[in-house]
Amino acid sequence: MAVETLPPPQALLDQKENRQQRLTQLYEEIRQLKQQRNAVILSHLYERIEVQNLADHVGDSLGLSRQAASTDAEMIVFCGVHFMAETAKLLSPQKRVFLGNANAGCPMADMITREDLIQFKAQYPGVPVVAYVNTTAEVKAESDVCCTSANAVNVVRAVNTDKILCVPDQHLAKYIQSQVPEVEVIWWNGFCPTHLRMLPEDVISLKHQYPEAMVLAHPECDDPIKELADFIGSTTKIRSTAIQSDKRVFIVCTEDGVRERLSQDCPDKLFLTPTRACAVCPNMKLTRLENIRNTLRDLTDEILIPDEVAVKARKAIDFMMAIDG
Ligand code: 13P
Ligand code: SF4
Repeated sequence: MAVETLPPPQALLDQKENRQQRLTQLYEEIRQLKQQRNAVILSHLYERIEVQNLADHVGDSLGLSRQAASTDAEMIVFCGVHFMAETAKLLSPQKRVFLGNANAGCPMADMITREDLIQFKAQYPGVPVVAYVNTTAEVKAESDVCCTSANAVNVVRAVNTDKILCVPDQHLAKYIQSQVPEVEVIWWNGFCPTHLRMLPEDVISLKHQYPEAMVLAHPECDDPIKELADFIGSTTKIRSTAIQSDKRVFIVCTEDGVRERLSQDCPDKLFLTPTRACAVCPNMKLTRLENIRNTLRDLTDEILIPDEVAVKARKAIDFMMAIDG
């Protein structure tokens, strides 16, 4: 078998140096364009680390929604996936909103359409619908209330019902059901392909090697992973729990951007992922610094939502925003 010849060390060091220069140049271009446009850059915790480091605010879906609602900037560049930028537009209709990379979608959000939801509701007349923020504006418009992973349990309690339809994530729905047993949660069969790549046997094997490790899981994980978790919560809550903890080793059961962020936040702690096939959301990794620079420069693919959809979707979001995370 032919052995691959690796470049000599100096060539690798030169590549590293060129990359660093390129990053510095892009950061400067973006800084200038951002100032000219009076723009704010929001980044989800699953984004590439250089994108997170560039952003004005980094966080989970709920935290970034709050930033979008309260910013004084005239323009928002959302580094995340499509439903997040749509939510920012719903919360800040007078601002111009762009996605860092217009091709970044969420496969889970695409697992239910407006027509699917209308049919689902017809099977359960009068039962309210809670839509995970990972849905299109059209699906939110057919829902009673929106939620994120950070506030889903509080939102369902606030709806004050004995039965609720939960779309599209079955795993978030099962988590809500475990926390609010007095409400019957009826779910759609959607799922996150990235979170389902994590296997409980990998968590168990890491726990054998590091018995002192704390297991942190996102509600989108499958039940067997959540059963092994010491803490379950949104990406921001996972991050703050690890930062505040006295533990030194963590098994992070969510997309790899959180592990990378935490490794930067806490260089003296060890963060591991329980997956042989790396837990990377390909859509979250589509946004590169070049895309952000181009978006700020060219203003293409602005997020626009028809008024009749926006008015209805905003009601579901406003209900959620009034509830504490
Ligand atoms: P958070 O709201 O916890 O940031 O999660 C968003 C998401 O898409 C998880 O896959
Ligand atoms: Fe969607 Fe999963 Fe990616 Fe989150 S991690 S954006 S739910 S595909």
